[in-house]
Amino acid sequence: MGNSKDRKENHVRISLSEESQFKEKTAGFERYDFLHYAASELREEDVILKTDFFGREISSPFLIASMTGGYGDAFNINSMLAEAAEELNIPIGVGSQRVMLEEDSLIPTFSIVRKKAPNIPVIANIGAAEFVKFENLDPLNKMIDVIEADAVFVHLNLLQEMLQMGGNPDFKGLIQKIRKFSNELDVPLIVKEVGFGISKEAAKNLLEAGAKGIDVAGAGGTSWSRIEQIRTEKDPSPFSEWGLPTSYCVRTVAELKKDFDFVLIASGGINDSFSYAKSLALGANITSAARSILKSVVERGSEGVIELVQNLNKDLVKIMILTNSKKTNELKEKLILKEELF
Ligand SMILES: Cc1cc2nc3c(=O)[nH]c(=O)nc-3n(C[C@H](O)[C@H](O)[C@H](O)COP(=O)(O)O)c2cc1C
Repeated sequence: MGNSKDRKENHVRISLSEESQFKEKTAGFERYDFLHYAASELREEDVILKTDFFGREISSPFLIASMTGGYGDAFNINSMLAEAAEELNIPIGVGSQRVMLEEDSLIPTFSIVRKKAPNIPVIANIGAAEFVKFENLDPLNKMIDVIEADAVFVHLNLLQEMLQMGGNPDFKGLIQKIRKFSNELDVPLIVKEVGFGISKEAAKNLLEAGAKGIDVAGAGGTSWSRIEQIRTEKDPSPFSEWGLPTSYCVRTVAELKKDFDFVLIASGGINDSFSYAKSLALGANITSAARSILKSVVERGSEGVIELVQNLNKDLVKIMILTNSKKTNELKEKLILKEELF
């Protein structure tokens, strides 16, 4: 996201502050509770966290979200994130590769990810405003080649482009380009938001066009309206609470599973083990987080990220035992709206 190295550096810095987060809106998971099953006979060793991600076995249903690349420190951040992902055997996304399409010297800030993580799924990334301008597969293949990507994310950040100085909120031709390139590409094309959410209607159109995965990246966590406002030192935007909460997106987009075969990724404000488990229970195949991971890597390096994900997984195992769910997809019937408990 963004058209310069400086912008990317600012985004990373601002996103670490509390001010970068939605204030009133939440991701919505607090409205749900798990159905406690007192008679569970499951033991830790019976619970299976490993899952399939586009034909690859990963150790737990967690993805390190697309974040960075393109400037000096991004090399170190990506290097540590990749080390953590490799150790955890989970997939990782790189940040928007637009900068490296414009400047070859920035390629190492992305290719370091594949160097440090030779055995896990790595996902390329480009914004829709750029993607719609691609006339052939060349730029996408270049993005894929430098990181030997297993999939490509196209991010939809319309509101961010509207609020960003020099942004380009022009996605004309998006569906047509998804149809064309998803057919021609050797790897799956996944569409993601960046924190405003993907509705069922939008997801349906994207899947019909050929997208093989949807990352809802809903509202409730990082707010790009707030980040752009802080960056440009403007007054609060009336759009600072805009967006569909993550839990709503996951629940409604999951309904499309009966018509489409796709990977549903939950992200946006998923910062604790209960939201993680609940997002899977609402129908996500895999969960993802950006800011909480960034915070750990900046504060404690790859060890911090490894510990964070391991702790999330430890709680997930407990939740699965307590709800009598051997596999993560069995969590599905184990969720209840809190108001129904009274
Ligand atoms: C510092 C930072 C940089 C990001 N850069 C990108 C990007 O380049 N491409 C993209 O698709 N999403 C990007 N995102 C969005 C995340 O992938 C994610 O969708 C969003 O932050 C919501 O997750 P969160 O609430 O866990 O932060 C970025 C997020 C952060 C925090």
